Amino acid sequence: LAPKDLLGLRLLVSAGPTREYLDPVRFISNPSSGRMGYAVAEAARDRGAEVVLVSGPTCLKAPWGVEVVRVESALEMRQAILERYPWAKAVVMAAAVADYRPAEVLKDKEPKVEAEKTIRLVPNPDILKELGERKEGRVLVGFAMETASGLERAQEKLRRKNLDLIALNWVNREGVGFGSPENEVVLISRDGRVLELPRMEKRQVAHRILDLVKEFWKP
Ligand code: C5P
Repeated sequence: LAPKDLLGLRLLVSAGPTREYLDPVRFISNPSSGRMGYAVAEAARDRGAEVVLVSGPTCLKAPWGVEVVRVESALEMRQAILERYPWAKAVVMAAAVADYRPAEVLKDKEPKVEAEKTIRLVPNPDILKELGERKEGRVLVGFAMETASGLERAQEKLRRKNLDLIALNWVNREGVGFGSPENEVVLISRDGRVLELPRMEKRQVAHRILDLVKEFWKP
């Protein structure tokens, strides 16, 4: 039985991909399964935290004992998260938020034409960066998915987004990351610690992240 060492912690977790619609039936997205964020939500619940999980579309079932808020687009995710931010004492942003959305969303499905087509994209707001700008004592955890120069980029993100902790995963490693039950991450904390975790179940990774959240959290 897990010790209830996170009793009193109000934790907001995001998980899964976002969908950026072009028209009623087409969208831009990514292969995030939501597993890492769901694992964090479940592990925190087991340790006594009160958890709200803001989830993009996934095929995972809602964890018991966790309030699940379902969203699709990055803008919907942003709204759901900002609404609950005043309540939260810590946020783990595990969602793979799309960086761009189509500049316009067509109301009707367009018929196919045999010609080249250009889609104009506009940048989505960086939700985590916004949270970092009005942090007020909360613990903020981000993820970074990199293929190259990971450590430096993750450290730069940690500073730029005003985070306490960032979990770096590699996209191009066999058997870890997107969709798989295991992950291999490097945890980088605000105070300069770099913890290279061996490959382990996402649930175990979640517990290691929560151990650090607990350290930074001031009840
Ligand atoms: O800058 P990058 O997208 O690599 O940062 C990843 C981290 O920022 C993740 O924790 C992700 O959930 C968060 N993020 C966000 N809003 C975005 C893009 C990423 O909150 N628009």
